[in-house]
Amino acid sequence: MKEVIKIEGGHPLKGEVMISGAKNATVALIPAAILANGPVTICGVPNISDVQSLSVLLKELGVFVLVKGNDHIVIDPTEMKNIALDHPAVSKLRASYYFMGALLGKYKEVRMKMPGGCYLGPRPIDLHLKGFEALGAKVDYEKGYYNIKAERLVGTKIFLDISSVGATINIMMAAVYAEGRTTIENAAKEPEIIDVATLLNKMGAKIRGAGTNVIKIDGVKELSGCFHEIIPDRIEAGTFLIMAAAAAEEMTISNIIPQHLESLIAKLQEMGVDMDVDVDSVTIRGRKPLRGVDIKTLPYPGFATDLQQPLTALMTQAEGESKVIETIYPERFKNCIELQRMGADAEIGTASCTIKGKTPLYGDVVTATDLRCGAALVIAGLIAEGVTTIQEVYHIDRGYCDLDGKLSRLGAKIWREQAE
Ligand code: EPU
Repeated sequence: MKEVIKIEGGHPLKGEVMISGAKNATVALIPAAILANGPVTICGVPNISDVQSLSVLLKELGVFVLVKGNDHIVIDPTEMKNIALDHPAVSKLRASYYFMGALLGKYKEVRMKMPGGCYLGPRPIDLHLKGFEALGAKVDYEKGYYNIKAERLVGTKIFLDISSVGATINIMMAAVYAEGRTTIENAAKEPEIIDVATLLNKMGAKIRGAGTNVIKIDGVKELSGCFHEIIPDRIEAGTFLIMAAAAAEEMTISNIIPQHLESLIAKLQEMGVDMDVDVDSVTIRGRKPLRGVDIKTLPYPGFATDLQQPLTALMTQAEGESKVIETIYPERFKNCIELQRMGADAEIGTASCTIKGKTPLYGDVVTATDLRCGAALVIAGLIAEGVTTIQEVYHIDRGYCDLDGKLSRLGAKIWREQAE
């Protein structure tokens, strides 16, 4: 029996939604916590299945994990053991690769299976591994396992060919206990990187420059437990901004950092979306006539690749032509194939897609082929005529906390059913 999400379109959204803690920060903060020698309490943890998978891996390693209340997690690695990570949870998510940097940093040795995650085309981890090697580790890949081992980890200068989020965070974690100074050049600047550096610094690490393209890490000998609150999820927030533009009478998206969403807010304004931006919230009066726009995905602060898929659903409701150029994951357009089923006029090109609007959308049976494709289909379902059935909803549950609950409270007709 597989679960599907069903949405009856056409019910206007109204009210306020509180955004949860950032998934892509959380999935790095949890592995980072094992670098401490005492309990780390993280609050604002979103209730998503990626967190459950990481908790399974922590328990495999003998780490004490306690979930407190709605959104607190206590991670105590005092009794942990550095065993090989080959649990099926490793391949359930991409971010299991953060255990490479964390375990290498702490024990100078790690053995684990290949990480998984959404299929968005090839997602190599060569830059992570080159970073570990530059710090003094030897990397072998044999019979499905990465074996990464160092006699000593020694700080050095590492230039990333691509400003990779994952490689920046992984190298930062491997370098916190290294001897001397590690400098990461052409580092990624995403807000989630600042959040991980903040946690590590609270634990006692010496990391400067996170959020710029040069990060300097001075190795320390001891890291201790601490308390940390996760930043709001800019991708969940962006998804709700797009939903509001598509389907809300008036909706406030709260507990956000609007600065993290500048590239999306600018595009929505260019499309003609009526909004007020406040200090920690945005209010949108949606369902207004929209104009087509062009976007090109880029590393932060450019337009986030994770938001281009949800935006394609809104583009179907804009007059004229919209074009998406994808520079991070050229194959990230499965959502357009699903949207076509619902009536979209979408043409996929090389690392790009063109959407002509405005076209009505009709409920159909569609598949969430990956997390953000799922978000795009939920948005399409909210505006479509009739009922949309979304399959493979586990992708959505990996990254959106209580999506159905939040939408129901805003007035959407959304429910789950068990399908044969
Ligand atoms: N890349 C390499 N070699 C590497 C690492 C990356 O060639 O060793 C390439 C990738 O193939 C891609 C580009 O560099 O073309 C950027 O990839 P990056 O490493 O920045 O991505 P990531 O760390 O694997 C994170 C998020 C993704 C998000 C990207 C880009 C997590 C767990 N994942 O992935 O989030 O799309 O950054 O911002 O933080 C999502 O949330 O739906 C999602 C996929």
